[in-house]
Amino acid sequence: MTMGKRILFTGGSGKAGRYVIPYLLNQGHRVLNVDLTPLDHAGVDNLIADITDSGQMFNALTAYAGFDDLETGKGAPKFDAVVHFAAVPRILINPDNETFRVNTIGTYNVIEAAVKLGIKKIVIASSETTYGICFSDGQTDPHYLPLDEDYDIDPMDSYGCSKKVNEVTARSFARRSGADIYALRIGNVIEPHEYETLFPRFFAAPETRRRNAFCYIDARDLGQITDLCLQKDGLGFQVFNAGNDTNGMNIPTQDLIDRFFPGVPVKGELGENEALFSNRKIREVLGFKENHDWQNYVKG
Ligand SMILES: NC(=O)c1ccc[n+]([C@@H]2O[C@H](COP(=O)([O-])OP(=O)(O)OC[C@H]3O[C@@H](n4cnc5c(N)ncnc54)[C@H](O)[C@@H]3O)[C@@H](O)[C@H]2O)c1
Repeated sequence: MTMGKRILFTGGSGKAGRYVIPYLLNQGHRVLNVDLTPLDHAGVDNLIADITDSGQMFNALTAYAGFDDLETGKGAPKFDAVVHFAAVPRILINPDNETFRVNTIGTYNVIEAAVKLGIKKIVIASSETTYGICFSDGQTDPHYLPLDEDYDIDPMDSYGCSKKVNEVTARSFARRSGADIYALRIGNVIEPHEYETLFPRFFAAPETRRRNAFCYIDARDLGQITDLCLQKDGLGFQVFNAGNDTNGMNIPTQDLIDRFFPGVPVKGELGENEALFSNRKIREVLGFKENHDWQNYVKG
């Protein structure tokens, strides 16, 4: 049995956070959600704050999480960890410079405040788009497959670039402070109800999934990965791909390579349906065991 931690979670009202936060609550953690809009979920405390304002981040990290914190008479308790998901989540929502500004300055502010206040564990949301295939102009090939954490990421868009910069920021602060800062390169997040609606469309047009290298991460399994990061101490700066074990496609891995990535070098042996967006590191280092393979929810 692990001890519940006191967690400040940014961006928890979004697509991913609204599944990851309930997972963390079920593991016994206490969560304060810091977002521009609140998350209406039993047991979650909310604070409306903007990550692009450094003062608000220092303030949030020294705040009471809820009214019950007033009862001890000992001031606001310290947070044990920060999970930082708040972001503009892709290109083509805001102008490119605004996406870059919010994501990079916001992440700098959250990590700086956490580290300077002595918090020793920070988990941040990076992205599969850092591999540079997803939002590339035209169809581009990866340097090699499967996409793993050793890859020299080279995105050409403002969102992917902002996430790459955030990994650099995280590494700098980890090196200076000795804190553990783990960046999750999150795959395409799938909510429970989306298997039924999205996967038949993916199967009917597999070419539309090439830009994601056919990856997906179940939103609840992302909760498990986030919790495993909170439990695993002492790794310093780390990057982890956050994806499920198999491709989110009803075509075997070798056939996907032959059809969609001909000529791309393949490193090592791949299982019959093993994901081209490799999740070996989270399995081997964090002990991730997926609970929500797509085949549980939709027929191939
Ligand atoms: N959804 C995916 O498939 C996917 C894939 C890879 C990475 N990611 C990353 O995972 C994280 C969560 O993604 P999501 O899909 O839940 O995104 P989302 O847009 O649904 O949620 C992001 C949340 O951040 C909040 N936010 C935005 N700007 C803010 C600001 N200035 N201050 C405070 N809060 C702010 C929003 O209000 C929102 O609730 C993001 O960092 C995203 O880039 C998502």
